[in-house]
Amino acid sequence: MNYKIEITKVNKSRLSEIDFDKIPFGQTFSDHMFSADYINGEWTNLKIIPFSNLSLSPVNLALHYGQSIFEGMKASKMTDGTPALLRPEMHVRRLNASAQRLCMPDFPEDLFLQALHELVGMEAGWIPQKEGSALYIRPLMFAMDEKLGVAVSESYKFLIVTGPVGPYYPKPVKLLADTEYIRAAHGGVGEAKTAGNYAASLYPARLAMQKGYDQILWLDAKEFKYVQEVGTMNIFFVINGKVITPATTGTILKGITRDMSIQILRDKGYEVEERLISIQEIVEAHMDGSLQEAFGTGTAAVVSNVELIAYDGVDMPMPSIETYKVAHLLKSEINGMRSGEVEDRFGWVVPVKRETAKV
Ligand SMILES: Cc1ncc(COP(=O)(O)O)c(C=O)c1O
Repeated sequence: MNYKIEITKVNKSRLSEIDFDKIPFGQTFSDHMFSADYINGEWTNLKIIPFSNLSLSPVNLALHYGQSIFEGMKASKMTDGTPALLRPEMHVRRLNASAQRLCMPDFPEDLFLQALHELVGMEAGWIPQKEGSALYIRPLMFAMDEKLGVAVSESYKFLIVTGPVGPYYPKPVKLLADTEYIRAAHGGVGEAKTAGNYAASLYPARLAMQKGYDQILWLDAKEFKYVQEVGTMNIFFVINGKVITPATTGTILKGITRDMSIQILRDKGYEVEERLISIQEIVEAHMDGSLQEAFGTGTAAVVSNVELIAYDGVDMPMPSIETYKVAHLLKSEINGMRSGEVEDRFGWVVPVKRETAKV
């Protein structure tokens, strides 16, 4: 279906004010945003408008009871200058899985893709050219009913905002495997990309930072025994040449970079296991020298190496980052596919098409 998206352009772009050499993550936003409203059971008011503030009731349901979900994705420029998205259909499917868990309406996949192509096509000038830089894309949906009392909202707003993010040169992270706080329990909302999961992580993350760690390596909620994920990344280990990552059993986010990493590695002949991984197994592999790599995967960093894991009062330094092979391979494969320098063997790269504009 081809939707009618009304477009109102800014009078003057802010693009010339942007220093692309200094774009801290999440603080600069492009000229336009996509907006839609869910009213009387249908998505309506489909528009691309200047990036602007919203007007919200103090009794907006999302502010009080947390019906709020989002996605995080990137557009980059291929070496020939064509803007490209990476697996956008996976993001709308995950958004809709989150929506279902939070009793929110589905957002039509075809409308999501049309809006994305249209918006990113308009904002192509905002996609940084530098290697490792990208246009970060944040689709979000939240309740709009105006009342108090825990209830499912009947109206919603859906937005897509975008902003350039600089080359991400992550320094290796120091992780604390926490045995006091949890991120998600079975039966909870850990698999959904919903605001409350991130709110719940702030306090334990702050305590970890006060102790000198960068982030928490979450353990399972029942026994504090099994490794789950890290902040905004899924976690991988390489032990004796075999790649292992926690299975997605309902409490961790089904990362799209995680999925790509598994497929790339299997295609390259690596053995990859998705299973329960106890923190004890990591301690033992560290002690007997079979732990070769530990790294996180996610849209923002692609791959972020782990320098140290602390558990039970002991700091375990990971092997020297220079010896990491798998993490390095994944980063260059995924970034290479984005730029077009590595063949897109899986059909993940989607060049942006603007053929739907209705002004
Ligand atoms: C909690 C959490 N885990 C993992 C990830 C990695 O997911 P993806 O690779 O889809 O960005 C993210 C980022 O979206 C996240 O917020």
